[in-house]
Amino acid sequence: MCGIVGFIGKRQAAPVILDGLAKLEYRGYDSAGMAVFDGEKVNVTKAVGRLKVLEELTHGGETMPGTVGIGHTRWATHGVPNDVNSHPHCNRDKTITVVHNGIIENYIPLKNKLLKKGYDFVSETDTEVAAQLLDYYYNGNPLETILKVLHRIEGSYALGIMFADHPGEIFAARKGSPLIVGQSADGCFIASDVPAVLRYTRTVYFVAEQEVVRLEADHMHFYTMDEEEIEKEPTTIEWDADAAEKAGYEHFMLKEMYEQPKTVTDTLLPRLKKDRIEIEELGMSDDEIREVRKIHIVACGSAYHAGVTGKYVLEGLARIPVEVDLASEFRYRNPILEEGAMVIAVSQSGETADTLAAIREAKQRGFAVLGIVNVVGSSIAREADHVMYTWAGPEIAVATTKAYSAQLIALYLLAVKFACVKKTVDERMYRLLLRDLKRLPDQIELLLNNKEKIQHFANRYIGARDVFFIGRGIDYAISLEGSLKLKEISYIHSEAYAAGELKHGTISLIEEGTLVAAVLTQEKLYKKMISNMVEVRTRGAFVLAVTNEGNGDVKRAADYVIYIPETNQYFTNSLAIIPLQLFGYYISVGKGCDVDKPRNLAKSVTVE
Ligand code: F6R
Repeated sequence: MCGIVGFIGKRQAAPVILDGLAKLEYRGYDSAGMAVFDGEKVNVTKAVGRLKVLEELTHGGETMPGTVGIGHTRWATHGVPNDVNSHPHCNRDKTITVVHNGIIENYIPLKNKLLKKGYDFVSETDTEVAAQLLDYYYNGNPLETILKVLHRIEGSYALGIMFADHPGEIFAARKGSPLIVGQSADGCFIASDVPAVLRYTRTVYFVAEQEVVRLEADHMHFYTMDEEEIEKEPTTIEWDADAAEKAGYEHFMLKEMYEQPKTVTDTLLPRLKKDRIEIEELGMSDDEIREVRKIHIVACGSAYHAGVTGKYVLEGLARIPVEVDLASEFRYRNPILEEGAMVIAVSQSGETADTLAAIREAKQRGFAVLGIVNVVGSSIAREADHVMYTWAGPEIAVATTKAYSAQLIALYLLAVKFACVKKTVDERMYRLLLRDLKRLPDQIELLLNNKEKIQHFANRYIGARDVFFIGRGIDYAISLEGSLKLKEISYIHSEAYAAGELKHGTISLIEEGTLVAAVLTQEKLYKKMISNMVEVRTRGAFVLAVTNEGNGDVKRAADYVIYIPETNQYFTNSLAIIPLQLFGYYISVGKGCDVDKPRNLAKSVTVE
């Protein structure tokens, strides 16, 4: 959701910025722009649409010479996507230039104040208010002025700022929106995310909440909001830049689906020591685990769906009551957290605004939060009291696949660990559970290798108008995720229902040819599911079933069957999701949709 890249150093800035912005395309955007200081003045170029329009307009950056610059990809919030609303924004005499990710919530009163002082505004954006406010307070000292403005801004921001009368510096600041800075022998960088700078450097600093950075060509200075200079430790990025490239796959989503066996292994193995589950980062003794009376899981989107699976697994295995909340609801519903409650926040990006706010809500009430997070050093990773990383590596496709699979594994690990400590499973069952966990990567691989079967089936449904996903128990959780995968990348209307709910309204939507994807992996619910499938089939539905190997008689209620290998009943979601991901993917490809960057979506949702 908006991308920022800035450079100051020995290279030409514009090509570095264009290259970095391309690496941030996954964040979602509808226009792009950059500002480069040419030695005398700041030149700004903006373009609506894809980044390549800006590239063409500037001949790959050649028409914007200079070694200091900032760039931006905008995902419209305040004002339609057009050249005027695109970033960078400037003050009236174009001496202060700003790029911004986030939302300035009090921009209307600030704008009204500036209008009264005689300022004019050209755009509808909140960001232009920041540029004009910097102008209003500017006293020749950029740092002092920035801090003054930041103290007056409410909301969230990652900012890149240039002052034409300080051409040897770029400034950056953040609150609530992600921002990193990096350093190489050639210069210093700012960016919304690591992949934007990886081609140039592996030495990065994660900018903390309410920190300001002053970048020079060969040095960076970090400040608190009280203007105190602070020392920071750099992080060396270990993962390869290739991990953020397509590596020969047609789409990032396909590549990331294929990485799932590795992701599952990487999340699982570091926590298996001598065939026991050890989750050191949990920071809880066995006695403390035994004291957990209730678990609250907060998350958004697919991470929420992982949480719903987590509820069934944690309750089933460890017999601890679990409440799963959409973070956007939790934060405002005055949740009841009682003694013995444990809060778990699940997030791939670690930057989701609602999840972050839910964490703050829990912490304010005195409850420690465990973050299940993918992006190392992200805001949620920093604000949670303990972090269990999902080692999925960078996920570029907007629709999550491998990070979701890793989230499931993290939640299984917690459930099995808690069950073992609380003795709700015996030693024999514990060993069987570990055995089945370790089998998952190979089983996922097997399902991925049978992708043609799904591809073939998906081609028949490219024209579908509505698709329903049904399941019971843990299969309902996977139906939610299967449905989201399909609709978000193919734009086909789709809904997930607990199969028992069908008769309470939804079944009236079933007509001749409606596709119903039924997931039935739970033995004790198998017959009930078959009845539900027969019900929709009698009303004309075409039924796709996803079920366990050996359930041959499912054919009497289904038109097409995908079998998943045998695993423990609590882990079936990790396998059932694979054909559903592939189904959404192939429908999207078949329809010619932008698979990796679906319309209106952003990879990290850093605003409410
Ligand atoms: C869907 C998807 C989103 C995210 C949601 C939360 O494919 O990716 O629904 O799961 O926006 O994002 P994170 O996990 O970054 O908090």
